[in-house]
Amino acid sequence: MKLLTIVGARPQIIKAAALSRAVAAVGQGRVVEHLLHTGQHYDHSLSGRFFDELGVPRPDFNLGVGSGPHGWQTARMLEGVEQILLGNHYDGVVVYGDTNSTLAGALAASKLHLPLFHIEAGLRSHNMAMPEEVNRVVADRLASLLFAPTAEACTNLRREGYVENTIVESGDVMYDNALHFSAMAEQAPSLATSLGLEHKRFVLATVHRDFNTDTPERLRAIVAALEEVDRHFMPVVMPLHPRTKDRLGSYQPRITAVLQPVGYLEMLQLERHAHVVVTDSGGVQKEAYFLATPSVILRPETEWTEIVAAGAAKLVDADPKAIVDACQTLQQPSPASTNLYGDGHAAEKIIAKIIAFAQ
Ligand code: UD1
Ligand code: UDP
Repeated sequence: MKLLTIVGARPQIIKAAALSRAVAAVGQGRVVEHLLHTGQHYDHSLSGRFFDELGVPRPDFNLGVGSGPHGWQTARMLEGVEQILLGNHYDGVVVYGDTNSTLAGALAASKLHLPLFHIEAGLRSHNMAMPEEVNRVVADRLASLLFAPTAEACTNLRREGYVENTIVESGDVMYDNALHFSAMAEQAPSLATSLGLEHKRFVLATVHRDFNTDTPERLRAIVAALEEVDRHFMPVVMPLHPRTKDRLGSYQPRITAVLQPVGYLEMLQLERHAHVVVTDSGGVQKEAYFLATPSVILRPETEWTEIVAAGAAKLVDADPKAIVDACQTLQQPSPASTNLYGDGHAAEKIIAKIIAFAQ
């Protein structure tokens, strides 16, 4: 079976690492995977470095689409993916998550009547103002198999009327990766130590959601809160997404360390050793949970509701007082009694199901 996997943004390259390992392990001889990179992310620090670091095979195709408004970016991707699908024979297309690359891949595959496999299906913020919500709702609607990472994601799909035999509760490939790479991360040179940070004595922050970066008063409120945390509580370290860097312009947040985006292993280290993680990232809030670090979520809602229900995360939106309070009061979560994100073998299950689907 010949599969085309579509990636474009940083977290999708990271997720692809889990599936590529599973193709090598489970699908050997039965699945050939080609990788298409849309070029949505193109800086080495958001793209190239993860192929090297996580052993993801180099993309077979790179559309080099780059940054731009949603319609323009998605249209270029749609055209590019369609050309690749028309020029090659594939038995199915894999898309991850909820980015514009996901949407373009899903549309191109379904218009050509190719089976579409959506990994991270069923997540909902119930907030259609988020571009990601639009993308994931459409990708789910077009998918032949919906790989839901959590029980909650399955419930969402059932509530929306999806046919039972299209829903697969697979577990989360991000959890597979966190387990697979965490020992390696601990052996790598410590970024925290090189920054003079002590175990559980610093705060890790990431911000990149459009509603936080592109609404000046929200960005100002978040940065002001991080500056206060740094001044009165613990040093704050923030790897800066280029979108946020761009929106901050010449403003330099007065915190202990503003970094370039870091590598995946460095990020796992920082998440494990931080006292608390402050973030609007889906992947980062989950990894913090996997590594038993609480998180303060800079959003009014989350798709990963089980982390909040478990008391391991707090939704604070962009309220500076709530951000500062949560940093000071959130306790280290106790290890979960049930595994909310699977058993660390989600990607193998996904490949096995895809093979069975094609037979
Ligand atoms: C995208 C996804 C978001 C995901 C995030 C992961 C959409 C709609 N958004 O958001 O769901 O959580 O990726 O990180 O698909 N830029 C660079 N270099 C790059 C890439 C981007 O400088 O390599 C800058 C550009 O100024 C660009 C901005 O970042 O305009 C935003 O990039 P874009 O890919 O549109 O969205 P993200 O915010 O990265
Ligand atoms: N990440 C990273 N370096 C960074 C910030 C994040 O390697 O400087 C990783 C992080 O560990 C997680 C993924 O990127 O695996 C999350 O991606 P991001 O926050 O960009 O997007 P989201 O998950 O919100 O879609």
